[in-house]
Amino acid sequence: MLKKNNLWVLLLLLLTAVIFVGCSIIEGTNDNKKPLGQETKLTGQQLVESRCSQCHTLDRLTSKERDNSEWRKQAERMLDKSPDLLTEEEYELVVSYLQEQNSKQ
Ligand code: HEC
Repeated sequence: MLKKNNLWVLLLLLLTAVIFVGCSIIEGTNDNKKPLGQETKLTGQQLVESRCSQCHTLDRLTSKERDNSEWRKQAERMLDKSPDLLTEEEYELVVSYLQEQNSKQ
């Protein structure tokens, strides 16, 4: 007679395989969800154009020559007005962009 035990072992193995594959598919779907927008970082230029134009035009940034420390001070002053405007990291990007622009003029 065919050993019943072997059949059970085979079924158990099959079940484990199905669960295993099922889990990797679910995991795979989760991985695919991650890169959706959240992680995209804006460049200094994009940040300046989108955030620094909320209360005034960008003319304010070009109407006067400013040295590096002056830019840092101005950006910080704007952050005082609107603390949620930029994260620490974004602030640094904005400052370097403004300083870069200024030295080209
Ligand atoms: C919450 C509103 C607001 C945001 C957002 C904002 N500003 Fe301003 N900004 C002002 C106001 C109000 C003034 C004019 C009064 C003053 O200078 O404090 C001004 C003036 C300025 C000036 C002119 C200062 C001078 O000496 O004439 C600069 C330069 C400037 N902003 C840069 C920036 C930059 C860079 C950003 C983006 C990081 C930014 N602003 C975002 C409100 C804002």
